[in-house]
Amino acid sequence: MKGKEKIHIGKVENIPDGVFTILNLKKYSVGVIRIEEDFKAYLNVCPHAGAPICQGEVSRLVVSDQPFLSYDDSEIKVVRCPWHNYEYDLSTGEGILSDAGKLISIATEEINGELFLLI
Ligand code: FES
Repeated sequence: MKGKEKIHIGKVENIPDGVFTILNLKKYSVGVIRIEEDFKAYLNVCPHAGAPICQGEVSRLVVSDQPFLSYDDSEIKVVRCPWHNYEYDLSTGEGILSDAGKLISIATEEINGELFLLI
């Protein structure tokens, strides 16, 4: 198996908070996102049926403990798939529903204010 390549993405200050930046790297489409002081990168493919997941809406997880009553004060940030609305926890890539699968994460590394992906 080949070693991973370190790809320079840019200055961390230029990565917006809560919005995916979609990049075409090698043969992959990858979404990079800042979640407060943390950086995540995911393959831009939904594990359910292949939608471009990083084009989905990013929001806080909507929770509900009663019918017809919901609120979004969860600390969990999710991306909602544009095709079938499955949601994925952006801190882990895990699907919120048990059968949703998990996003494929790509390692990130911050060095002196610059962000790199390891692909
Ligand atoms: S393709 Fe993403 S939820 Fe179906």
